[in-house]
Amino acid sequence: MEASTLVIFGATGNLSRIKLMPALYSLEADGRLPDGLVILAFGRRPWSREQWVAEVTAMLQEKYPAGLNQAACQRFCQRLQYAHGDLTSPESFQELRRRFDGDAALPNNIAFYLAIRPAEFGSVMDSLGEVGLLREDNGWRRIVIEKPFGYDLLSAQSLQQGFTRHVQEHQIYRIDHYLGKGTVQNILVFRFANLLLEPLWNRNYIDHVQITHSETHGIGSRADYYEGAGALRDMLQSHLMQLLTLVAMEPPALMDAESLRDEKVKVLKSIRPITQGAVHAHAFRGQYSRGMVDGKTALGYLEEENVAPGSTTESYAALKLYVDNWRWRGVPFYMRTGKRLAENSSAICIRFKEPPHHLFRASTHHHLFRNTPFERLLPNWLLIGIQPNECLKMEIQVKVPGTDMQTRLISLDASYRSGDEKIGDAYEDLLLDVLEGDHSLFLRYDEVEWAWRIVDPVLKVWSMEREFINTYQAGSWGPRGTYRMFDRDDQFWRHSLQIDGSDVGAEAY
Ligand code: BG6
Repeated sequence: MEASTLVIFGATGNLSRIKLMPALYSLEADGRLPDGLVILAFGRRPWSREQWVAEVTAMLQEKYPAGLNQAACQRFCQRLQYAHGDLTSPESFQELRRRFDGDAALPNNIAFYLAIRPAEFGSVMDSLGEVGLLREDNGWRRIVIEKPFGYDLLSAQSLQQGFTRHVQEHQIYRIDHYLGKGTVQNILVFRFANLLLEPLWNRNYIDHVQITHSETHGIGSRADYYEGAGALRDMLQSHLMQLLTLVAMEPPALMDAESLRDEKVKVLKSIRPITQGAVHAHAFRGQYSRGMVDGKTALGYLEEENVAPGSTTESYAALKLYVDNWRWRGVPFYMRTGKRLAENSSAICIRFKEPPHHLFRASTHHHLFRNTPFERLLPNWLLIGIQPNECLKMEIQVKVPGTDMQTRLISLDASYRSGDEKIGDAYEDLLLDVLEGDHSLFLRYDEVEWAWRIVDPVLKVWSMEREFINTYQAGSWGPRGTYRMFDRDDQFWRHSLQIDGSDVGAEAY
């Protein structure tokens, strides 16, 4: 790989501390970081290189309390450089430019990682543009940004205009860190490397799809950001919508970035628009109230630090979408996410239809029978666990041993990682992809725009309804009443990926 410089704006911030530096170090420890890479932090504090190195070492020690690989840590620290500057000062950017011109040790292929507030994107891009650091005269220039890509459709469009004044689409890497997760990438392999599933993967056999991301933690100290975002923007418009596209997309012509992203955009375009009048039938929001999480009392959302009194920001959002195309017409995609829920879990659960004719009797007393009439067999489910357990499972009926022709459900487990295969952080792959110039796992602008189009009507209605929001107890599975969104009585949220897992009470939600 060509030598390059990764410039990180906001290098002392949270993202860099928790994700970027640890991921870069981990790549170093695995011998995957390209030889000629220099990592240049741009920061407000008047630090020397030595001080910055000490700071990064402390970040890494905090992240890896079991200890660091000393040799790797040393190699990593040799790559670190520090540029003292102020994001709002043109002089700082001129200084940065002079540094690139004068220091032969700084490669001129440059990736700028904007780990800063979106409100600062515009001015940083203008400043980089003014000093000529975005021109690709003597090497490539790439911009890496994190969500939120705007606040709604209009703001996303104006953010984009700001970028296109200085760079072209192929230079922009919009991170959705979910796409860096191993199982998420495995969805594509699972679907397109196995012939077995393709004939079943459509409206003739699939009853509905559920996509869930639940977390036990609350918003912590992020109220400043979260109050203006809410669960729909924070998780659903971005990460969960991406999962939906991977489940629903057609096989791409090639596995290159543009073919892949073309197919994802086609899915987003096919999603039936939710009119404002239909918002209540398609979307549900909630906010956590005080409750118990992991045996401890957890504060309610309104009691969290810096949350406005009477705030109606949602910490839980659920959405029902239809993909109106040949393959999926009529199949509901139920999506939900929330903070302070009962478990940390991200999964895609696909429920198949029932066999057309019931020849066997199911063994009873199973919790999954809850909404299923006694004589009916349980349908097949395909379960894709994303975290904390990466897994692929398929539930099928087998005969109960003995003389009776009774069936019971078992789970075929196709977990694909063996015990000694490490789960890398999503950022590791994504950072390498930026340096290699591979766009496949990054969002193209049209994806972002279409995803906003889908949720915009819901955001509008919710922003007008500021008087009331449903609550749910911290530690529960969300607000009561979300079952209203289900198309039929026998559909319910699937909380557990185990056959004998506890879905108790699911019908209430
Ligand atoms: C982030 C959201 O994008 O994703 C957070 O802003 C959320 O609110 C996080 O907690 C979840 O990602 P992960 O990888 O930690 O499950």
